[in-house]
Amino acid sequence: MLRRLHPEQPESFAFTAANQQWAKAQITKFPEGRQASAVIPLLWRAQEQEGWLSRPAIEIVADMLGMAYIRVLEVASFYFMFQLQPVGSVAHIQVCGTTSCMICGAEDLIAVCKEKIAAKPHELSVDGKLSWEEVECLGSCTNAPMAQIGKDYYEDLTADSFSKIIDDLATGKVPTPGPQNGRYAAEPLSGLTSLTDYDAGKPQYNASVELAEDLGDTVKRIDGTEVPILTPWLGKDGKAAATKAAPKPPKAPAPAKPAAKQAEEAKKAQIKEDQPETLTAAREGKADDLKMLKGVGPKLEQTLNELGFFHFDQIAAWTPEHVAWVDARLKFKGRIERDGWIEQAAQLVAGEETEFAKRAKEDGTYED
Ligand code: FES
Repeated sequence: MLRRLHPEQPESFAFTAANQQWAKAQITKFPEGRQASAVIPLLWRAQEQEGWLSRPAIEIVADMLGMAYIRVLEVASFYFMFQLQPVGSVAHIQVCGTTSCMICGAEDLIAVCKEKIAAKPHELSVDGKLSWEEVECLGSCTNAPMAQIGKDYYEDLTADSFSKIIDDLATGKVPTPGPQNGRYAAEPLSGLTSLTDYDAGKPQYNASVELAEDLGDTVKRIDGTEVPILTPWLGKDGKAAATKAAPKPPKAPAPAKPAAKQAEEAKKAQIKEDQPETLTAAREGKADDLKMLKGVGPKLEQTLNELGFFHFDQIAAWTPEHVAWVDARLKFKGRIERDGWIEQAAQLVAGEETEFAKRAKEDGTYED
């Protein structure tokens, strides 16, 4: 396939202020004279911002790195991960068409793309929201057939489930990534054949899907509105900060022994839900930054706010019955206990600083 610059190009390109800062920070990773090593991250960021790589974007990146335009164009046109033509404003869908996926129904998925998006790959849908292409193996063969949409994988697809995903995206929803047939991860289709006791008590989704859900940036462009821009090796002003080892996160508790675990689970099963006191809005219009709790990212904070929790003292006061009530309303069960929200909230209410909150403030990073 010929990979050329698109015939229609925008007048200019500029990184958003936050992306510019991020890009400059990437360049500092490489020794003097080796700035060209940052070409792929910078091109990728430009693509994450705009959806595709225009000629002005390639030229800006070349200027930033002191490279000839042709050298950067060579990189952009060599790697298929770079889109050299406009893509759908909501999502660009990459359907794997390699052996496992082809055997398991990739052709049906491509037929759905042709019907719902556009007859040819790399063409925009009529409303400009979606585009698609067939790509080579994306390394998720066990969950074939699959497609990458934005930053995430949608696996174990059928024409129907894929069709529904496309419809959802077109209406502004972002379906949960990962296996779409009820599989947890890449275990046998017929169910687990080993480690079967692990089945009890596991969260609803696997860690990758859970993180994707928490971040909620599957098809979001990196346009500077997101926090944080991760440059942990630099200070917030973009200058190199004194080297300081980040404090280690608290160790996860050792896994419970099977008998103890069973007793614990039986005890939990007996706890009845009881709704804690909720608020319709933050007191005096000033909510606490719940992301200071380890395990609470922007999405979970929003969910907690929607449930009526805005302050650390509300969380610190939860009883086991309250936890059961809140847990039943969160997508991922068991996080409150697993990450120790109540203990962390109590510490923050008491004016103490948790290890996590301290790190989050220093680095501007949150962790889910
Ligand atoms: S063949 Fe499709 S992911 Fe490998």
